Amino acid sequence: MQFRISREPLTELTADGIIIFYFKNQRKLTGSAAEADRLLEHQISRLVAEGEVRGELAEVTILHTWGKLAAKRVIILGLGESEKLNMDRIRKAIAVAARKADSIGIKELAIGVTSDLRVNGNEVDLIQAFVEAVCIGLYRFAGYQKERAVYPKHLQALTIVVGEHISEEAAAVGLERGEVLSHAVNMARDWINEPANKFHPSRFAEVAVEVGKRRGIQVEVLEEEDLKRLGMGALLAVAQGSDQPAKMVVMRYQGAPESTEWLGYVGKGITFDTGGIQVKPDKGMGEMKGDMAGGAAVIAAMDAIGALRPHVNVLAVIPICENMISGSGYRPSDVIESFSGKTIEVGHTDAEGRLILADGVAYAKYLGATHLVDIATLTGSVISALGHVATGIMGNEETMIQEVKKAAELAGEKVWELPMFEEYEELLKSEIADIKNEGGSGAGAVQGAKFIQAFVGDTPWVHMDIAGTADCQKDDGLYCKGATGAGVRTLIVLAVRRGS
Ligand code: BES
Ligand code: ZN
Ligand code: ZN
Repeated sequence: MQFRISREPLTELTADGIIIFYFKNQRKLTGSAAEADRLLEHQISRLVAEGEVRGELAEVTILHTWGKLAAKRVIILGLGESEKLNMDRIRKAIAVAARKADSIGIKELAIGVTSDLRVNGNEVDLIQAFVEAVCIGLYRFAGYQKERAVYPKHLQALTIVVGEHISEEAAAVGLERGEVLSHAVNMARDWINEPANKFHPSRFAEVAVEVGKRRGIQVEVLEEEDLKRLGMGALLAVAQGSDQPAKMVVMRYQGAPESTEWLGYVGKGITFDTGGIQVKPDKGMGEMKGDMAGGAAVIAAMDAIGALRPHVNVLAVIPICENMISGSGYRPSDVIESFSGKTIEVGHTDAEGRLILADGVAYAKYLGATHLVDIATLTGSVISALGHVATGIMGNEETMIQEVKKAAELAGEKVWELPMFEEYEELLKSEIADIKNEGGSGAGAVQGAKFIQAFVGDTPWVHMDIAGTADCQKDDGLYCKGATGAGVRTLIVLAVRRGS
């Protein structure tokens, strides 16, 4: 996709389509919308009067201009109630319009940073949001059919019209941030959408190495011998039922060499989760190819961090393996020795994510992480609590929790905090080991977090359970069916804010 910044009025631009905004209950058309209406001999105001254009969020109405404007079409995009407008709603609406534009063969699209977009953020943020909306909105997984699909199908260029007061430099910053963030999100989505026979543990480790090379980030891949030597018993136990050897990827971005603080990102990298010997039901098991979405989010975020180069140190740790079924698989009741030294009784072989994360967070701490965020498709329970709308977050320190909430809000990702009362720890008590990985029914998402917390200790930490948000059941707003890249933008914004 090509991006251009222009100072020409929207109504004078040559393009296949220009987008103009219309709010719900808007009384009068203003600015370029009023000008387009005048040139189109009041077709827009008539459609408003007739109730066909209502301004509902993401409502798209397309008018052909037949030579009355330089652009071939005017796309009237509803933005909902003006009081409810925020960056997230702007992204949603523009993404829907961009998908529609692409589907009808529009190659060049133009849109303006107009004065009616009154939101919490400046013009640079708006330019960034436009780019994200178009790039994330138009993503689709290419797949493996003989005629390999290419996306977007038609749309090639977006012109963003800005006012006099926005400098070239400011506009360039917005464009760059938008492109870097969208690229990271879509890269994660590609990895997550890949089937597990293509995207196995070795391939996963390989993409981390590729990101490291591209961005000048140090990457180390621990192989099974290393994991044995280090005593990563929890990761190895989960991996032992698979023919694919486990890996642990470590990435180090040192943007603040004078600082001893290291922000540690730990992502669950289960490339397929059958449930193990306590096998999952047949229906929907294929979705478990996406059980590495947390790990993908971390590696993709490192790609963007390596491009934006914030003044902060970030350590990424991604434990990777498959959770398969075989004669060599681990069993419920097994006791395993984790990297931290704590012993774990296996209560359930399908609660494998927290096991590999136990070694992941303990290793990140050992390598010097002073602050931790882990991200994982960890529990079905978080879906019962929050559906597919918000990521569940849990933590052990208020400042860190607030920081993650703020980063998520700025990134346009929804998170909701769940309680971490100490009473929940009772559920994980084992009679024969230091802890067990599953404690029966109730508060499953919190149990998962409580288990990880046992390996985090007092280090400020936030856990992000993206089981509900990592994928989408149908095309909706910013996303299409399939992987969403949940958490990628939050992790990037968190690191960038820590470094400024
Ligand atoms: N990968 C799953 C969680 C999951 C469920 C992710 C649905 C995405 C969609 C995880 O490993 C799992 O199986 N969790 C179990 C834990 C239970 C056995 C304690 C769960 O949540 O049911
Ligand atoms: Zn599982
Ligand atoms: Zn899992």
